[in-house]
Amino acid sequence: GRVAVAMGGSSAEREVSLDSGRNVLAALQARGVDAHAIDGIPALLDALRAGHFARVFNILHGQHGGGEDGVLQGALESLHVPYTGSGVLGSALSMDKTRSKRVWQSLGLPTPKFVPLPRGADVHAAAREIGFPLIVKPACEGSSVGVTRVFEEKDLDAAVALAEKYPGDLLMETLIEGDELTVGILGRQVLPSILIVPKGAFYDYNAKYVADDTRYICPGLEGEVEASLRALSLEAFDALGCYGWGRVDVMRDRQGRNWLLEVNTAPGMTSHSLVPKAAAVSGIDYQELCWRVLETSFR
Ligand code: DAL
Ligand code: MG
Repeated sequence: GRVAVAMGGSSAEREVSLDSGRNVLAALQARGVDAHAIDGIPALLDALRAGHFARVFNILHGQHGGGEDGVLQGALESLHVPYTGSGVLGSALSMDKTRSKRVWQSLGLPTPKFVPLPRGADVHAAAREIGFPLIVKPACEGSSVGVTRVFEEKDLDAAVALAEKYPGDLLMETLIEGDELTVGILGRQVLPSILIVPKGAFYDYNAKYVADDTRYICPGLEGEVEASLRALSLEAFDALGCYGWGRVDVMRDRQGRNWLLEVNTAPGMTSHSLVPKAAAVSGIDYQELCWRVLETSFR
């Protein structure tokens, strides 16, 4: 049947999602799938109620109309429409970094020390608890929007003010200095890790989508060390109730310890994105990758 490629939406990651979505749409069509773009949740639900589509390839990113936070997944369950990726629980938990970390902590999985910052919290007291350097982020955003690394107390208020521009609570975390790695998951296959080497100090929104000078090394590690990173990533993904496909972001400190940051349940599929790079190294080209993600809706 016809496939709706759900993209765009109204989150802070709208532009990223449109970019991901256009690439996915073209790849599915090239594979002979009768796929059509739909922008945002209201239009998608209207089209589904009218019976226009048999399934949904969800490449919406983010919360609040972004379609990655469990809200859309619940609506699709209610309509009995199959869709790609994680269900309600995994999507909702993964969108909330604070609650993801609580689950990992309860299982003894490593995640950087943190303090949740509800609106109006005493951020300076929280910073004394964490110590510098630290990182301030919106608890429920993606693509590093609103994220600032803070090395000195004088820069804290500006970091909090930026993160507060986004909906929901904030999170303050110990800044792990070392390497940024990410691990894609496709079905039950864990893809080789990617080591991200931004030109600047930080893999921010610009380094993710705009600059062409970020280097990617895949596999990011070797041997046992790579194997244990992949095993940890799958464990972290399973712990949040995720399935289908996704991507686990990890920091590796200078002592070689891995620290879980977050899970993305609808990871970027742009030409700059990470899962496509890791899949390619595994011999899965972009079209095949899109097909394999579509297959996650056949359950
Ligand atoms: N949140 C962006 C889309 C990613 O994780 O790739
Ligand atoms: Mg994310």
